[in-house]
Formats: sequence, C-alpha cells, structure tokens
Amino acid sequence: MKRILRNSFAILSIGLTVVLLLAMIPQDQKAGAAWVVPAKYKAMKNTQKADPAALSTGKMLYMKHCKSCHGGAGLGDGPKANSMKTKVNSFKESKFQGQTDGEIYFESFVGRDEMPNFEKKIADDEERWAIVSFIRTLK
Ligand code: HEC
Repeated sequence: MKRILRNSFAILSIGLTVVLLLAMIPQDQKAGAAWVVPAKYKAMKNTQKADPAALSTGKMLYMKHCKSCHGGAGLGDGPKANSMKTKVNSFKESKFQGQTDGEIYFESFVGRDEMPNFEKKIADDEERWAIVSFIRTLK
C-alpha cells in the first residue's frame, strides 16, 4: 500500500513538473491583422509642429503610457509585450512609418483588442499629436 502511494506521488510530481514546464514555454504571439482605419481618421493632419517643445512633451507622455509595451525605442520590447497575445510590432519598420499621421493617431488612441484605448487617459488633442510626432522620430 505504501509503495503504491509513493509511486502515485512520484507520477503526480512528474506530471505536475511537465505541466509547469509547458506553461513556461512562451505562447506564439499572433501577428495582428492590418488595421482598418476609418477615412475620417486617415486624412487627419497633425496640428502640432514637431518642434522641440512638442517632441519633449510627446516623449514624456510616450514613456509614461506606451513604453511598458512598446519599449523605450519603440521596438515592441517593453516589459509587458511578452504577456500580450498579439505581437507588438516595431515602430522602426518602414511599413509602420509609411502610414499617415492620422492612421497612427487612430491606432494609438482609439486602439483595438490588446492595444488599449487612450481617448480618456490622453484627452488633449495637442498631447496626442505630440506623441504621434515623437513616434515619427523613432524610425
Ligand atoms: C498594454 C500594452 C500596450 C500599451 C500600454 C500600449 N500599446 Fe500600443 N499596441 C499594443 C499591442 C498589443 C498592439 C498590437 C495590437 C494589434 O495589432 O491588434 C499595439 C499596437 C499599436 C499601434 C499600431 C502598430 C502597428 O504596427 O500598426 C500603435 C501606433 C500603438 N500601439 C501606439 C501606442 C501608443 C501611442 C501608446 C501609448 C499612448 C500605446 N500604444 C500603448 C499594446 C500596447
């Protein structure tokens, strides 16, 4: 009886270890589908001149709200990026930088799925455009 108990315990421990090890394998992050940006946003113009003052505001806000997922240099390597199911793309990619300011604005503040909506947290339009301008410098 004791031996059976000991054996079941061993099997259970092995089973548990396997489950734990499997849980540690990072899940494949799926690449996000192309964004569907409404025409109204696509055509929006950046109302902020990308002057040093705007860029420094943009940088400060980016580091506060965006860095945790997108990383300080916009590489998509912030500490929270790995816990996302969707891949966080690099802002350096030419495909990303090839978008209009309005498209980046929509993705940044309206968001979708795991990309949070920031319309309430960053309500000031000038601050939003300052962030877009800062993201442009990350290319
Ligand atoms: C909690 C993590 C998280 C935070 C914080 C976050 N993002 Fe994101 N972001 C994501 C994820 C995940 C995606 C990819 C979503 C998808 O493709 O569906 C994304 C996508 C984007 C995209 C589109 C990228 C592309 O390849 O087209 C932009 C632009 C963006 N985020 C800007 C921002 C800005 C600006 C902030 C800060 C105001 C911010 N994000 C904060 C997780 C985050």
